[in-house]
Amino acid sequence: MSSTEPTKGIARRDFVKGTAAVGAGSVAGLAMPVWGATTANDRIKVGLVGCGGRGTGAANQAINADPGVMLWAMGDVYADRLQNSLGGLKQAHGNRVMVDQERQFSGFDAIDKVLDSGVDVVILATPPGFRPDHLAKAVAAKKHVFCEKPMATDMPGLRKVMETAQQAKNQGTQLMSGFCWRYSMPERAMYGEINDGALGEIESVHSTYHTGPLGTRARTPDMTDMDFQLRNWQHFNWLSGDIIVEQAVHSVDKMNWAMGNRPPAKCTAMAGRGLRNGAERGDIFDHFAVIYEWDNGARGFLTCRQQANCSNDNSDWVAGTKGVGFIEGWAPRKSRLVFADGSPEFRYKGGTPNMYQTEHNELFKAIREGDLVNDGDWMTVSCAMGIMGREAGYSGRTITWEEIMNSEREIVPSKLEFGDRPPIEIPAPGVYQFS
Ligand SMILES: NC(=O)c1ccc[n+]([C@@H]2O[C@H](COP(=O)([O-])OP(=O)(O)OC[C@H]3O[C@@H](n4cnc5c(N)ncnc54)[C@H](O)[C@@H]3O)[C@@H](O)[C@H]2O)c1
Repeated sequence: MSSTEPTKGIARRDFVKGTAAVGAGSVAGLAMPVWGATTANDRIKVGLVGCGGRGTGAANQAINADPGVMLWAMGDVYADRLQNSLGGLKQAHGNRVMVDQERQFSGFDAIDKVLDSGVDVVILATPPGFRPDHLAKAVAAKKHVFCEKPMATDMPGLRKVMETAQQAKNQGTQLMSGFCWRYSMPERAMYGEINDGALGEIESVHSTYHTGPLGTRARTPDMTDMDFQLRNWQHFNWLSGDIIVEQAVHSVDKMNWAMGNRPPAKCTAMAGRGLRNGAERGDIFDHFAVIYEWDNGARGFLTCRQQANCSNDNSDWVAGTKGVGFIEGWAPRKSRLVFADGSPEFRYKGGTPNMYQTEHNELFKAIREGDLVNDGDWMTVSCAMGIMGREAGYSGRTITWEEIMNSEREIVPSKLEFGDRPPIEIPAPGVYQFS
């Protein structure tokens, strides 16, 4: 929050008024908010990094969440994506969008420039390959963060996210994840009951994410390899993490939720790419079937696919010693818990506000009131489970939690530049070496 910006009649407060108290109050490792509670009229400046579909949606929800929110800076590797997003947001929100030309940044260093532009909160919504680095920079700059899922595409990246999440906790800055079902009221009611023991001990979870393929963009003569991959990022493992990490990780996350956010001991998978062809389809698979196993013998079965003209589904069946939960991700009114002793089934009867809006309502409320949101622990377990499932599918071999937590395979290039990329290699189970 800079002291030079126009106030437009909005009362100014010093948002950093809690800072001095942090030094005095941070005893015995207790996390204290960097910012104290604020009043409703304070201005909160938001920066958006990654101005595509989700980033634009998240910026829209941030503005809707709180009357003091201003969209202040935007960054995207491509100026055309930024302009598209900016045009729509301006149309929807008028002067709440204060992204003057000098705060519109393109290129790989757009993240640095957004962080340096005086924002208080940053929304990270690029392809996930960049997330560990962007998140580390945002937290080092003491920004509050809304961080889209997934948080990394490889384990060195995810370990960095774990450290960064701890740093955010220690310094008292917000870290909210884009695992949106955690912010969905029907799911909260269902998994809340499950975590409270309504179904007894959970013995198995079956989750599906069955949908169609995502769109592609044809190569044009002006595109370098890097441009081509960025414009088709969902189809390149280093950028997206493959479908199980990029998309079905929502189902993995709900499985993790049902199991009380406890990591599995190991997993085995079979996977492949039956229907993907063409350079735009990159190196990712189009289906995975994973068996997760927990120490107590519980099993989680995840199937996901992206194939056209097939039946779609996004549901979770959670079986415990006292009953079964049927949770419909796309039709929450049908979700129910059924009990073995014949007692009446449990259904959620409350409202179903937009879960993406709820995320931002809760984030900005926490900022206002000085509460601390930190989704770091469970969001990184869910991402590690996704990467573990992918690696088990690629390699064809059972992978333990310890092995995945120690995986050294780095797939994101350390130097980002436009130009050539190495030829892609499509993993073959039984041949691909997990490391
Ligand atoms: N929570 C959800 O339900 C949900 C839904 C959709 C997408 N997502 C997640 O949101 C993220 C973005 O997905 P999307 O659908 O908006 O994709 P998108 O392609 O629409 O947008 C991504 C944007 O990031 C930009 N970009 C790429 N690399 C960048 C870099 N290094 N620096 C700055 N900008 C960069 C791209 O040019 C593009 O404009 C992904 O992690 C995706 O998994 C989450």
